[in-house]
Amino acid sequence: MHDDLKITLMGTPSLYQKSLFVQQFNSDLQRLVDTLYAAMYKFNGVGIAAPQIGINKRVIVFGFEKNPRYPGEESVSPTTLVNPEYEVLSEKLISGWEGCLSVPKIRGLVDRYEKIRYWGYNEKGELIKRDAEGFHARVVQHEVDHLDGILFPSRVRDLRNLCFEATMAEYSQE
Ligand code: NI
Repeated sequence: MHDDLKITLMGTPSLYQKSLFVQQFNSDLQRLVDTLYAAMYKFNGVGIAAPQIGINKRVIVFGFEKNPRYPGEESVSPTTLVNPEYEVLSEKLISGWEGCLSVPKIRGLVDRYEKIRYWGYNEKGELIKRDAEGFHARVVQHEVDHLDGILFPSRVRDLRNLCFEATMAEYSQE
């Protein structure tokens, strides 16, 4: 039923729009969430935001056990956040390489807050509130950016740190 899943790619105008808050927790929302998980798993993402499947609503899902795209990172349980928000718990920024299903084959070095507290609702309307740090916090900041029309390349401060994955792999060998 999710055979026709497609990811909206960089350059598509809707990816640069601010998404709308969800008003109703109904079956449309449940279908959207189901589709987001299906797309995330199909394309091996660690997170995905509704605008990436062409829906400008404030819904993200994320989570992974072991992800081949991000080896060595600890697991995060599958989490749905409707109307997510976060506050910064530490002003400390850390740099890390990011990728995005909407920006295939490219990685960029992006600064993110190390520690945040985020909250939002699951598809049933139940409040979820957590403190997160490191990669977990990075993923949430990346996905919430999508809801505000921001793709990670615009967060790369030095464009020399925007690279093709294949080229990086070539030059990271000894
Ligand atoms: Ni992304």
